[in-house]
Formats: sequence, C-alpha cells, structure tokens
Amino acid sequence: MNINNLPHTSIWYDETDNTIRYIDQTFLPWELKIRELRTLDDAVRAIENMEVRGAPLIGVTAAFGYYLGIREGISDAGSDARVTPSDALIVDRLLATRPTAVNLKWALNKMQNNAPESQNHRITESQNPQFPESPNHRITESLNNSLLIREQEISRSLAIGGYGLDLIKQKFAETKKTVNILTHCNAGWLATVDYGTALAPIYLAHNAGIPVHVWVDETRPRLQGAKLTAYELSQHGVPCTLIADNTGGHLMQNNMVDMVIVGTDRVAANGDVANKIGTYLKALAAKDNNIPFYVAMPMSSYDANTKTGADIPIEERSEEEVLGIESWDSGMSVVRIAPEGVRAANYGFDITPAHLVTAFITEDGVKNTVP
Ligand code: MRU
Repeated sequence: MNINNLPHTSIWYDETDNTIRYIDQTFLPWELKIRELRTLDDAVRAIENMEVRGAPLIGVTAAFGYYLGIREGISDAGSDARVTPSDALIVDRLLATRPTAVNLKWALNKMQNNAPESQNHRITESQNPQFPESPNHRITESLNNSLLIREQEISRSLAIGGYGLDLIKQKFAETKKTVNILTHCNAGWLATVDYGTALAPIYLAHNAGIPVHVWVDETRPRLQGAKLTAYELSQHGVPCTLIADNTGGHLMQNNMVDMVIVGTDRVAANGDVANKIGTYLKALAAKDNNIPFYVAMPMSSYDANTKTGADIPIEERSEEEVLGIESWDSGMSVVRIAPEGVRAANYGFDITPAHLVTAFITEDGVKNTVP
C-alpha cells in the first residue's frame, strides 16, 4: 500500500546487501523510520518493543528471526563448523516475545519443519554425508522459507480482501450509499506485510471505486488506531474518521455503521476470537444493533490446538502504557496522565465469543464457523 504515493510493505528482504528491513512502527505517524534486522537479537527486540506488531507481521518477523539465528550461529562457528546452532534456543527466544498471537508459533513451526536439521545437535559426517556444504545450504533454505512465509502472508491478505470486497459490494448494492465500516486497532498492511486482514477488503473496495468510509477506534493505551490505522488509510486516500475507543456503540445505535471488520491474534478451535482489548465490547454493541461483525482471519491465526478462548493466553503489558501517553516533539516523551501512586491494569487483548461473530473472512472464503 502507499505512503507518499509510493508502494511500501512492512518488512522485506533486500538482496542487494542481504539485509532484512522493516518499518519501525513506534515512530509512526511522526517519522517513517526504516530499520534493519541483522541478528536474532534484533528480531526479538523488534517484536518485544512492538516496532513490528500485528499477528501476521509478528509471524513473518519471527520467521526472519529464525533465519538470522541460523545464519548467526553458523557464521559464528566458522566455515569448518561441526556444530549447528540450537533451533530450540532460537525458537524459545522468539516464542517468549509475545504470547497471544499464534502466528508466531505457526511461523516457527513452519520454519522448523521445513528445515532439514531441526534439532539442537552436533552433525557428524556420518549423519550428514553432505557436510561441510550443509551449513550454507541450511542458511539458504531458512532464508527461502522465511521469504515464502512472507509471500504467502501477502497472498492470504489479498484473498481475504477479495472475499471481504464481495461483502462490501453487496452492502453498497443494497444501500447505494457510502459503506461505513468500523474497525478496531490496526489490522491493516502495517499489521501484516501488505493489504492487511480487516483493512484488505476496504483497500480493494476503495481501489475499485466503491465509496467507503472507515470509523477508526483509537485503541488506548497504545493508540494503534490513531497512530497506525488512521495513518495508513489516509496515506492511501481512504476516507476515515478517528473516534475515541468508546464511541462505537453510539455510532451503531444511530445507524452510522454498516458493518464491523476486525482482525484477530488467534481464533480457538471453537471459533472464540482473541483480538485487541475492547473488541468484545464492539461485538456486543454490533449484536445489539443487528450489525454484521466480521473477523478477518488468515489461517495462520487459527489455532486448532487451543480449544476455547479461555485457553488463549492474554498478554498483560506494562502499567506505564496506561498511566502515561506518548508525545512527540522532535523525539518521543511520555506524559503521565494519572495521579502519582495510582496503579493501572493493562490487558492487551480480550476474547469475543464465537456466537457474536457473524462470519470469518478467510483466504478460503467467508465462513459462518471455523473449519
Ligand atoms: O498489540 P498489537 O498491535 O500486536 O495487536 C494488533 C491486533 O490486535 C490486531 O487486530 C491483530 O493482531 C490482527 S492484525 C492483522
């Protein structure tokens, strides 16, 4: 999608200098800061600090982190290496970064399963007659796997966009008026690699000339709606209006919302949905007002191994994020907004029960229930 009329993606591999580059989202909307991932540590830091965030992008970054970990281990050990880097260590470090988005685990599983040597062990020549070629082969293979995961995430977003576009077209055909869509947090191209999940149908509708307008929830405490969704939609020219987190119910009661589309960090086997804190309240309000509530779900966010929403770990973040608010004046600072001594609770996500979801927009079509 576009920034300053130029196409961008959130993370990419630059083969001219063999480097992974990404947009550091903690600087948006003030500065478009491009940074590099050179090591496993860089990838761990980028996910932990939410320089990259959003479930699919966390997965893709973890895949690159895995590749960097493999590359680092092999280069550190030198070309005569007889020891492969520890897959388990790499995976553990990346898995510990953020708990709720299952895409992290999904991507790392994929990286490990496609890797020829997936255990932490010494390779002997008898185990691997190709040795010493195998370390380089392994680096190339893990790079290719991470690039594939990235490409597939873009294809998923596009497919979700196409199916969601049909829903928007139907609504426009019924009303012949601008389609008003409410979204929560950021599930756009900044949360994926390109197009987004919840925002992909909106971009495709806008590009197809269907009049759309987006109500953007700011999503305290990190303000991803204000900082990221409003940024990417307006950069691409999609009409949008920023609202305080609590405004959605009022808009729905007053016929100002045609549909709600949100992303997800994990969908459990029974269809319960983990997404940014406050999503549940939007789903309740949508149900009460007979407004369709869609969850855009790439299959990389579906977790058949987690039975229900109650089994999904909910990230608890620093209370400082609630007690303060960031401001920017040629650099970031935090202004405290609560009295000294007051404590805060900061749950990052909540669970929307499956019965409040009208349908899941997946890369395989629009489904009333999960597979
Ligand atoms: O804490 P974040 O910014 O990683 O949370 C993002 C969300 O909750 C998104 O809605 C979700 O990851 C889906 S992104 C396509």
